[in-house]
Amino acid sequence: MSTLSGRRIVLGVAGGIAAYKSVEVCRRLVDAGAHVSVIMTEDAHRFVGPVTFSALSSERVHTSLWDDDSAIPHTRLGQSADLVIVAPATARVLSAYATGYSADLLVATLIATRAPVLVCPAMHTEMWEHPSVQDNLAVLRARGVRVLDPESGRLAGGDSGAGRLADPARIVAAAAEVLGASRDMEGLHVVVTAGGTREPIDAVRVIANRSSGKQGYAVAAVAAERGARVTLVSTVDLPVPPGVTVVCAETAAQMKSAVDTLAPSADVIVMTAAVADFRPVRTADGKLKKRDGAPEIVLEPTPDILAGLGAAKRPGQTLVGFAAETDDLESNALDKLRRKNLDMVVANDVSAPGVGFGHDTNAVTIYLSTGGQKSVSLASKRSVAVHLLDSVVQVRG
Ligand code: PMT
Repeated sequence: MSTLSGRRIVLGVAGGIAAYKSVEVCRRLVDAGAHVSVIMTEDAHRFVGPVTFSALSSERVHTSLWDDDSAIPHTRLGQSADLVIVAPATARVLSAYATGYSADLLVATLIATRAPVLVCPAMHTEMWEHPSVQDNLAVLRARGVRVLDPESGRLAGGDSGAGRLADPARIVAAAAEVLGASRDMEGLHVVVTAGGTREPIDAVRVIANRSSGKQGYAVAAVAAERGARVTLVSTVDLPVPPGVTVVCAETAAQMKSAVDTLAPSADVIVMTAAVADFRPVRTADGKLKKRDGAPEIVLEPTPDILAGLGAAKRPGQTLVGFAAETDDLESNALDKLRRKNLDMVVANDVSAPGVGFGHDTNAVTIYLSTGGQKSVSLASKRSVAVHLLDSVVQVRG
């Protein structure tokens, strides 16, 4: 499987002669299995036609903040992206991106996205060397934007020097690298849980929660792409990521039984599922009748799956828990880390906008049992998964 397979990539094309080379970038990304959405600036149209890109990407090319069916194309494109590439990135686009002057769809998307961004500048040598361009790049680098420097060689108009767009193959390789697409989890069995458990009250009613399973599926997908054998214990029905084996569960008891069966062979266990803390003591046979009045439902605690795994953890096994909090994020998360004998806890403040249950995005702080911590600000759940698994690989040494 290609490391770019299934990734959503926004390819921004700015107005420079090197725009013709981004056609080749688009083709290579599509060949690698990526879903590519192309945004062209108005000036880019002077160099290459949108039909070329739409034919390659099988998607309409986006050009303006105003010509899309969606009222907010810049946030939609940015939110769904796993990576944004700008190739070529002109001096104007770099300046606008660095200063936040989001007058066109491409720059607005760059400002709106939380996905990693790879810019590939291309311009004449004099422009490339100008302090304004270099200062803007320094600002962008400091913000975590990846810059693939241009190459030296023949430029438009017969000139020669630094400023030529990096070769398309290098751009695609850099994209794969940025996406953390290495096979650094090969040989590991990773067990992930996803979704919320449902605890039956009667034959039709359940106690449930708002977990969609998206975060757990993202962890499973990224682990599989990084070479792990992945078993996903799931309560939801989402598309199964390539290379992932799914075991279905509905209740906390079923999830515990599935996870406990898998645990002895697991090198890494990631408990992303929102497991009910309480369940009805008794499940009524059939459907409770409304005419009989409101039932009194007596609850009892469910088994804490994660605490059980922590107590039985074997040497070499890495145990990752989540903490869904609405207050005292750090102290509650650290308490779970210690009490459940975890190697790391991924804490999300699920009261914050765009964070946690149901969203396509998340924001987390990862606390390690060794004392380190890493914060991931609002980003796609896939991006959070990449950071989480980076930490797993790092703690496993
Ligand atoms: O599914 P999504 O819509 O994408 O949303 C993602 C998420 C919000 C569900 C996810 O990011 C998250 O926070 N998952 C943990 C939810 C949760 O139940 O948190 P908790 O703080 O109540 O539990 C702490 C840890 O103990 C969790 O790893 C949980 O899986 C585990 N647990 C909890 C109770 C229990 N009986 N057994 C457990 O193993």
